[in-house]
Amino acid sequence: MKKAEMLVEGKKTFDLPIIIDTMGNQSLDIRNLRKQTGMITYDPGFGNTGSCQSQITYLDGEKGILRYRGYAIEDLVEHCDFVEVAYLLIHGYLPNKKERERYADLLNRHSLLHADMQSFFRRYPDHSHPMSILAAMAVSLSSFYEINLEEDPELQIDLTVTRLMSKMRTIAAFSYRKMKGTDFVNPSYTYSYCANYLNMMFSSPVVPYEPNPVHVKAMNKLLILHADHEQNCSTTAVRLIGSAGGNLYSAVSGGICALWGPRHGGANQAVIEMLDQIYQDGGDVRKAVERAKDKNDPYRLMGFGHRVYKTYDPRAKIARETCEEVLKELGKRDPLLDIAEELEQVALEDDYFKEKNLYPNVDFYTGIIFRAMGIPTNMYTVMFALGRLPGWIAHWLEWHHDPFERIGRPRQLYMGPTARAVPPIAERE
Ligand code: SDX
Repeated sequence: MKKAEMLVEGKKTFDLPIIIDTMGNQSLDIRNLRKQTGMITYDPGFGNTGSCQSQITYLDGEKGILRYRGYAIEDLVEHCDFVEVAYLLIHGYLPNKKERERYADLLNRHSLLHADMQSFFRRYPDHSHPMSILAAMAVSLSSFYEINLEEDPELQIDLTVTRLMSKMRTIAAFSYRKMKGTDFVNPSYTYSYCANYLNMMFSSPVVPYEPNPVHVKAMNKLLILHADHEQNCSTTAVRLIGSAGGNLYSAVSGGICALWGPRHGGANQAVIEMLDQIYQDGGDVRKAVERAKDKNDPYRLMGFGHRVYKTYDPRAKIARETCEEVLKELGKRDPLLDIAEELEQVALEDDYFKEKNLYPNVDFYTGIIFRAMGIPTNMYTVMFALGRLPGWIAHWLEWHHDPFERIGRPRQLYMGPTARAVPPIAERE
């Protein structure tokens, strides 16, 4: 076992074991640090902290590499659909034809929502953000579809995974119909996963509707791009809730809430709002770049920068290509794509962005594709959540099956007042 020597205050040295992962990356094992030295580490935002060992996703931020269970993201979007990739993340291997067909059939069989759940939607204010509905409905699934671990626990968990994968898509579509004030459209066994979703969103009794194959292909690609990303903020939230023994529905609900933040999955909505504002203001991208560089201005280039990627996010590259393909196949142009591409060019030539390694991330182009598909802005993060769902499930299962996993409970540096007596209220100023 490789070890690192740690010198404390110039005298005592401690050996810290080094763990080497599959890709040769080295980590200091500090599990006994406090016991040995009385000290803890300090790492706000956990930028230098490994929270677990995982076999699901590998990413290299310097080289722009992303692999799910060892398969490169570029190959997965080229050769698979989203249901296959969800199966890969959850089960650890790509399904063969028979397994894929059986899984698709299972997802269809579990795609309906309990009738009483449908009445929940009607109680939400019309202006509700669909992410608030999604988070609430996800945890409510545990009331309607109880997980009885007294029975065959693994079968119960398998059933819960399938229900989540299928019913979240229905909940997402229903939240859109709720916003539009139109009746819900139930899932149909005649459609594939993505076509079903689009049909539940857009079909109408008064005009013929068939999901556009260009939209279906683009949605498969986009959900694959979002399917997992190792220990990002929302996945860490899912693992943390799971580590307390929280059930899968509640853990996913927590993940949805974390993803909603504009620094995380909410950025795809913020990107379109930013691009549209630049467009409305006359298209001056240089002004936006200058504002983003100004320390006194809270304005940030949304869709730019990443905690791990210090080069072009491989997903952004695929999203940009898909964006151009979709608009071309639909015979559309979108001025926001022109602005996005110009903004990217100006930023990437600017020293501020170069020095800080700020590149477009997954959220920079995806919103333009959703827009071309007719999906409204406030549904973009819901689309991200639908994509990320198999990743969240895979990480919850990995915790659940890890015999050595412990409840997540970080320490802190206390910087508050030292001990003091409580003054009687009459003596308080
Ligand atoms: C996702 O973790 C994941 O894997 C997430 C994700 C996933 O798949 O799960 O990839 C999905 O969340 C992508 C990120 C989407 N968010 C955005 O696009 C919002 C805009 N980006 C920033 O808020 C920021 O880049 C973060 C939140 C993404 C990353 O923040 P970090 O790693 O904490 O970086 P930082 O805030 O410490 O920034 C480092 C420097 C700072 O300047 P200094 O204080 O060093 O002078 O870069 C600057 C920042 O001010 N900076 C930006 C910037 N992002 C960082 N300046 C202008 N515009 C930006 N977008």
